[in-house]
Amino acid sequence: MMQFVVQSQRTFMATRLSLRLMRSSMTQRASFSFSAMKWEGGVSMVQGASRGIGLEFVKQLLENNEKGHVVATCRNPRGATGLHDLKNKFVERLSILPLDVTVESTIEESAKSIREKYGSLNLLVNASGILSLPDALQPETTLTKVQKSSLMLAYEVNAVGPILVIKHMWPLLKIGGGSGTERDVAIVANISARVGSIGDNRLGGWHSYRASKSALNQLNKTISVEFARKKDPVISILLHPGTVDTDLSRPFQRNVPEGKLFTKEYSVQKLLHIIDNVKSSDNGKFFAWDGQEIPW
Ligand SMILES: NC(=O)c1ccc[n+]([C@@H]2O[C@H](COP(=O)([O-])OP(=O)(O)OC[C@H]3O[C@@H](n4cnc5c(N)ncnc54)[C@H](OP(=O)(O)O)[C@@H]3O)[C@@H](O)[C@H]2O)c1
Repeated sequence: MMQFVVQSQRTFMATRLSLRLMRSSMTQRASFSFSAMKWEGGVSMVQGASRGIGLEFVKQLLENNEKGHVVATCRNPRGATGLHDLKNKFVERLSILPLDVTVESTIEESAKSIREKYGSLNLLVNASGILSLPDALQPETTLTKVQKSSLMLAYEVNAVGPILVIKHMWPLLKIGGGSGTERDVAIVANISARVGSIGDNRLGGWHSYRASKSALNQLNKTISVEFARKKDPVISILLHPGTVDTDLSRPFQRNVPEGKLFTKEYSVQKLLHIIDNVKSSDNGKFFAWDGQEIPW
């Protein structure tokens, strides 16, 4: 009798275990088939894609790959003429969504739309940023020009916004890691700036912009530690694009040494090379356009 009880207990536990294994492998298969097979080539999101470096990322991601989908987000999709031109060319592979990094509900809405349409994300590029805005933010040349409102604005757009974007896309990135592309992890690339390096600060000035990028760097380092601790298949890095000929740098290009002002095409090509070759050990690191690590 005793032998029979032990035997049936063993059979019951073995059945439960195999059911649990079956269920977990079905769940895994369901998520992989949804994200990998349906979206061959993966799904990338470029945040801050209306112009400049962000728009160039969208262009190269679409033009360099035969497959793969891109979600481009920006504050005002209607006015984003560069994105409309790309949409005409890549009707099926490009989606455009409204997202203002200072309005969290627009980030949540984008995450919802991406989840419903694609189910996962393989790459997130946070490209938005501000250096100067008429009447609101001017890169400070001296402490006497520092204003609370400028410090707060730069911090809100350049540091808080990108981190909230990662927070809301995180569940999609976890699924995206290991599927859809040749990579076995999802990647987050935050466009920072060398001036955010405290160790590299020899010239001073640009207090609001510098401090906001330093804050972005620290926030990114912090989440990269969490991703690694939780064994999430997500790598998050910081990238300095060089001095690039865009609206952001245009008023400040006078003192750029010859040969040091890059086209956005060149800069994004270099940044995509870093992204495509990223390793797990790069998680949390801060790289310049040429692949050199930048000191904190
Ligand atoms: N250009 C350089 O030399 C240089 C150097 C170092 C680092 N960076 C960094 O590179 C990134 C891209 O800069 P860029 O040169 O391409 O500048 P840009 O041409 O001025 O483009 C800035 C982008 O940020 C978007 N943006 C601004 N505020 C936003 C908000 N609240 N929510 C969502 N998007 C917002 C803009 O959208 P709207 O069209 O709606 O304004 C635009 O798409 C920035 O993070 C910048 O700090 C640039």
